[in-house]
Amino acid sequence: MIKRSIKDFETIVEDILSNDKFQELNNELHHGISRFSHSRRVASLTYRFAKLFHMKNIEAMTRAALLHDFYLDNEFINNENSAKKLSAHPILAYENASSYYELGDLEENIIKSHMFPLKGDIPVYKESYIVSTIDKLAGAYEMSCFKFSLALNILLIFIFNIITIQR
Ligand SMILES: [Fe+2]
Ligand SMILES: [Fe+2]
Repeated sequence: MIKRSIKDFETIVEDILSNDKFQELNNELHHGISRFSHSRRVASLTYRFAKLFHMKNIEAMTRAALLHDFYLDNEFINNENSAKKLSAHPILAYENASSYYELGDLEENIIKSHMFPLKGDIPVYKESYIVSTIDKLAGAYEMSCFKFSLALNILLIFIFNIITIQR
């Protein structure tokens, strides 16, 4: 029996993480953190999930997960509103990703359908459903951390103000 050797996460994604344009995602705010960190989190969780369940497309899934939000806010034409951005960004991410990397049908569908069922294409592979679900879970976690730290900061400012007023 031939045993498939699985590359580690860093080896699969290192060329994307070091891409100059992809590095610009460090300056883009997304769910209260950078789009770079969000994308890396989605890719890392996808990799761990795929490895745990011995999925055969682990590399394609992981790379597509990393590329799913590969866009910059200033790439939208005429400052489109948030609803337009919601539906347009998977296509923009795919265009950016495919200008640097060779992507197959699986990667294309993962990227273009990651906003399902809100916007974009319909997932046609189980891998697309998995990445789309992981993206939503990661987004919910990041937003809750952001809101919690925001609430905590407001509370601390409030306490600080009371202490200083009472002096
Ligand atoms: Fe997205
Ligand atoms: Fe995302």
